[in-house]
Amino acid sequence: MAKPRILLNLFHPTFAQSRGGKALAEAARQLTNLTFRNVCQEYPDLKIDVKQEQKLLLEHDLIVFQHPVRWYSGPALLKEWLDQVLQYGFAYPPGAGEQLKGKFWLSAVTTGGPQEAYRSGGRNNFTMSELLRPFQQTANLCGMIWQPPFVVHSVVPVKMGGISDEELARRAEEYRALLDSITIS
Ligand SMILES: Cc1cc2nc3c(=O)[nH]c(=O)nc-3n(C[C@H](O)[C@H](O)[C@H](O)COP(=O)(O)O)c2cc1C
Repeated sequence: MAKPRILLNLFHPTFAQSRGGKALAEAARQLTNLTFRNVCQEYPDLKIDVKQEQKLLLEHDLIVFQHPVRWYSGPALLKEWLDQVLQYGFAYPPGAGEQLKGKFWLSAVTTGGPQEAYRSGGRNNFTMSELLRPFQQTANLCGMIWQPPFVVHSVVPVKMGGISDEELARRAEEYRALLDSITIS
């Protein structure tokens, strides 16, 4: 068993104002086997360096897609990144084109809505695991190994009913520990 080479791709269009994403990223960045990239900062003009992104994917074992939930999905650059980087012949089809096969995919997300809203009959009707299924199936098609998503709910200011600073710090530490606990053979 060995530690994976972790690539944390952060997609956060408003990271300077972030509460949750910043806490999670700062905790994760303590890990020495982790490469951190603020993808929105890399590509403010949306012009993605596809070859560079593909090279980074090939150099790592566990790819973390960290982002705030926006309209029950991810920020626009995440979708653009997937469209451009996971090209035919690189990420799929199974066989010769499946260069990401066997790598791990972990989605790590924050939501403004509370946990109780994310269930059948709740305000948002679906669980986060259900809402993340397009990402799960993207991982599947690429032969990647989907990990249970890491979700932090109620990430709004405390005065608006958001989780406390202490709870956020506890979840950030949980995130760091989770990333540190994943091993590859
Ligand atoms: C355009 C936009 C769409 C959003 N859509 C959702 C949503 O669908 N569900 C939800 O729970 N929160 C939604 N939010 C709230 C964000 O998920 C929340 O502000 C973010 O996770 C907080 O993390 P941060 O402190 O790192 O910015 C949305 C926020 C914005 C700006």
